[in-house]
Amino acid sequence: MTLARAPGKVILCGEHAVVYGRPAIAVPVTEVQAEAHIAPAAPGQGITIAAPDLGREFAVRTAPGDEPLARIVRLCLEVMHVVQEPDLLITVTSTVPMARGMGSGAAVSTAIVRAMAAQFGHWFSSRAISDLVYETELLYHGTPSGIDNTVIAFEKPVYFVRHTGWEIFWTGRPFLLAIADTGISSPTREVVGDLRRRYHADPARYEPLFDRTGQLAVAARAAIERGEIETLALLLDENHNLLQQMDVSCPELDRLVLAAREGGALGAKLSGAGRGGNMIALVREETRGRVDLALRLAGAVNVIVTTVR
Ligand code: MEV
Repeated sequence: MTLARAPGKVILCGEHAVVYGRPAIAVPVTEVQAEAHIAPAAPGQGITIAAPDLGREFAVRTAPGDEPLARIVRLCLEVMHVVQEPDLLITVTSTVPMARGMGSGAAVSTAIVRAMAAQFGHWFSSRAISDLVYETELLYHGTPSGIDNTVIAFEKPVYFVRHTGWEIFWTGRPFLLAIADTGISSPTREVVGDLRRRYHADPARYEPLFDRTGQLAVAARAAIERGEIETLALLLDENHNLLQQMDVSCPELDRLVLAAREGGALGAKLSGAGRGGNMIALVREETRGRVDLALRLAGAVNVIVTTVR
């Protein structure tokens, strides 16, 4: 029996613009986790994947090529040079909310890769795990930037620039983030696709928004490294404003952002694809309770407070 886990994530700064080559920052969220258990199965059964949370169970052998969980299992077998299909039951569970911008797909795939590696006595670097998981992100999202698989595989704050590279970096001072769920599903693929269509129709409108977002991400990294949380808060507020101008926010997200600020958060913004999903608020130990309550009163269906270190 093998068990492996992977955390969720939130984007701190720079979502969407990151798809267009601007820098973004993401941080892991260990309060939510995906888990993959591997147990032996009866001889001749091949590999079965069970996702009890979703009421799904299927054989990898007959799964379509674009089924993301089957794809990551096949990729693992390939890179580990396992030629004969083993007889295994892989059970996947997750507390990472789905379609909420918290990297649920990447977390589940990462847990599977880690469990498969342990099962076959193989070692994958975090980089190798991230690269494998990116292949399934393509199935989930169409044109993923790669930020989700990177932050989840490394489990550290990541400064990410698509096609150019990424860096793990350290916080000058740990800080608290309240993450509030609108309760609205927001499939990343659709929101990214919609923005892409609008971008192609009018690039001159969006390029400056992406440029400014990228500048905010650069400044946010510097603020985090120096432990300047008040500066970071202002940058998050401005980032939310830019995301509104990209038309990826929604009334429910805007309401939570306002409620968090009024409740005492230093700064707040939507996080992830937008049009639902989650928002984040920078809080202090003294204000976390008040902000949590304000968010719930404004309609949040769940609030998680995580420490970024
Ligand atoms: C999704 O978590 C973040 C987006 O920027 C898409 C991506 O980076 O692939 C909206």
